[in-house]
Amino acid sequence: MKEIIWTGDLSVGIELIDQQHKMLIKHLNDLSQSLKSNQGPTKIATTLNFLIDYTDFHFTAEEKHMAANDYPGLETHKKKHEEFKKTLSNMEEDLEEEGATKVLADSIDTLLVKWLFEHIRAVDVAFGNFLKKKGVQIPQEG
Ligand SMILES: [Fe+2]
Repeated sequence: MKEIIWTGDLSVGIELIDQQHKMLIKHLNDLSQSLKSNQGPTKIATTLNFLIDYTDFHFTAEEKHMAANDYPGLETHKKKHEEFKKTLSNMEEDLEEEGATKVLADSIDTLLVKWLFEHIRAVDVAFGNFLKKKGVQIPQEG
């Protein structure tokens, strides 16, 4: 997988969410890198776990802001997050059972990156627009 780069067309217009998406992309790149350079099962499992933890953190944050702002799409959006988390935990199982196979490396590109980009562009952007319409701003953290 080529390194993926956050560009302005992925912006949802809400600073905190954009910041977290950039971080998510960083974790995806780290995972892809550790698979590509064959860093060994422990290192790969660690990078996958970082990605899983950060994904949980980010989804929880998004859902919290959706709930706080009475976003009508919350339930549908939550389901999509659950699906993605399931994909990640399947990957974790595959890694444990079969090691770092080419199939696993490829699925990062096809499943994770594709999902994330589509999700940001379709689903997160809709939430961003909803917040902007309401005049809600969520600044970056840290
Ligand atoms: Fe989302």
